[in-house]
Amino acid sequence: TKLDMELAAIEKGGYDHFMLKEIFEQPDTIFDCLRGRLDAVNASITMAGVQNNIDQIKNASRIIIIACGTSWHAALLAEYIFEELCRIPVEVEYASEFRYRNPIVKQGDVIIAVSQSGETADTLVAIEKAKEQGALIFGVVNVVGSSIARISNAGAYTHAGPEIGVASTKAFTAQLVVLTLIALKVAHEKGSIETKRFVQLLNELHDIPEKVKAALKTADAVKKLADKYKDAKDFLYLGRGYNFPIALEGALKLKEISYIHAEGYPAAEMKHGPIALVDETLPVVFVATKDSYHEKIVSNIQEIKARKGKVIAIVTEGDETITAMADDVIAVPEADEIVAPILSVIPLQLLSYYIGIAKDLDVDKPRNLAKSVTVE
Ligand code: G6P
Repeated sequence: TKLDMELAAIEKGGYDHFMLKEIFEQPDTIFDCLRGRLDAVNASITMAGVQNNIDQIKNASRIIIIACGTSWHAALLAEYIFEELCRIPVEVEYASEFRYRNPIVKQGDVIIAVSQSGETADTLVAIEKAKEQGALIFGVVNVVGSSIARISNAGAYTHAGPEIGVASTKAFTAQLVVLTLIALKVAHEKGSIETKRFVQLLNELHDIPEKVKAALKTADAVKKLADKYKDAKDFLYLGRGYNFPIALEGALKLKEISYIHAEGYPAAEMKHGPIALVDETLPVVFVATKDSYHEKIVSNIQEIKARKGKVIAIVTEGDETITAMADDVIAVPEADEIVAPILSVIPLQLLSYYIGIAKDLDVDKPRNLAKSVTVE
């Protein structure tokens, strides 16, 4: 009825789709996620779930992060951040694999479960098994009171609000923020981070909502790219270091929303296979913001250009080197490499959205996918 349609329009807050609304909500959801936790002025992080278990977490011999789908990509980035800041070995596991292989979990291990819905069956069973073996279960969950939240010994909610679009967007950036806060707090308590660096990263996080707002201004440019590349049969997404998980996430978003085959790879690993696919029909998306890997990724871009691949690069504003080499460039604000992925994923979310729209697909409910997978 007309009323139903009007109600639906109100729920979407003036946006055409929930996915676009949720992408554009990210400055606010990230702000909400930091609120009451991050105090950049007094250089402190308040997280009761971490504080109450701080000895166990900072002395963990190992952290195992368990997740599925987009949450698994957040987990993978968390591995890089935890290892760098906390100097604790981290393993990242697909819940479905972990649960079936008689996993080795020792007392003193800390398990972090990452889940938007808190209901993913594989993740739930995987942490039940680990809990039986005596590990501390720490949940990073969006839905309050969900099964994974309830079974966890401790946790931190992502506070992204209800996510309606099947493909995860704002829940993902909230996961990145919460996981970064946890890593920073543990590193600070453990003494594995210098105070100066700690304060610097707190300020970087504090500035992220405003920078996400600026990154969203790329929407019109990304829409043009979508029209240009919408008929490609395959896409390759490449990144190094902190941007490698973002390359995986960009490829997943494109598959989910645009039904285009896409693969994400660590940029240097491309010579061991994917480079065989490169010709003038293949768009290659480089997630190449300015970080300690920059020089290396520049040579990876050269390798693609030498084989006539089309290069779309996500760069830091003012990056003239890559701008001169790439076919198309989308620039996001400058940020420390630890938090830059929260910005570089924004144009990739938009790209999948606008290609889906250009192909007239149901972006909020892609075929064959479910918002939460409660069966194995
Ligand atoms: C489904 C959703 C994905 C999500 C994954 C894990 O596949 O479509 O968007 O990333 O489940 O879900 P979770 O709720 O555990 O994060």
